[in-house]
Amino acid sequence: MFDRLKQLEVLRKSVETQGWALAHQMFPAEVAAAMLFQFQRGLGNTPETYTGIWGKGPFTKEFCFESYAYHYPFHAGLLWSLTPYMQALTGKELLPTTSYFRVYRKGDHCALHVDRPAAEYAISLTLGYSDDIPWPLWVSQEAVKPNASAAAKGGILPDGTQMSMLRIPMQPGDAVIYDGVNRLHGRHDPNPNEWSAHLFYDFVDRNGPYADHAFDRRNEFVQPSDFHFPPDGAPAAKAKTQKKVRK
Ligand SMILES: [Fe+2]
Repeated sequence: MFDRLKQLEVLRKSVETQGWALAHQMFPAEVAAAMLFQFQRGLGNTPETYTGIWGKGPFTKEFCFESYAYHYPFHAGLLWSLTPYMQALTGKELLPTTSYFRVYRKGDHCALHVDRPAAEYAISLTLGYSDDIPWPLWVSQEAVKPNASAAAKGGILPDGTQMSMLRIPMQPGDAVIYDGVNRLHGRHDPNPNEWSAHLFYDFVDRNGPYADHAFDRRNEFVQPSDFHFPPDGAPAAKAKTQKKVRK
């Protein structure tokens, strides 16, 4: 039987000793598929209907579907609820920063890059492939030298920078945990699928140098809540009935 606690121990060791780890079935494939369908149903699946971003990011050659955690409450909930898992994996007191959802098209790539400080602890999760062909994530074996990192423009390292790269094949539900700030990463092979859907989650150490990036510095999300009840003796207001769930 698959033992999640044992997996966590192995992954934690990998993160500590080599700076990255591959979590097979971080989500069961069915859950990854359900998450992907929720994005498609909630945000749309054509350039005309998509309510996130239909555009070309700094790392892609082609237009792709993209959205950020704070565009879509479901997405923010996924990010926030992964906090304890990432804390267990890293042994750090983490806080979430942001998350990206992206659907790449055939032939596109994700240029090798390093992330901004908000991705001190990053997860790349594969949600689904149209043609079931694994599309590997590339992660550098070593951390990027501070001088090369400082010379990076928009996360892209200067031409001629040589680094030894790992190519990590991933199935839907698999995730790679890595240091997004110091490890060069991307998908340098052309996408062999008609489309390929991924989620990227970022966290920072609340006691570390990037702690101020928590919640992507969006203070509107960390506010006190309040609830109001009618005074004693007031007639009971008619309860709103929940909308029927579509079957
Ligand atoms: Fe990245």
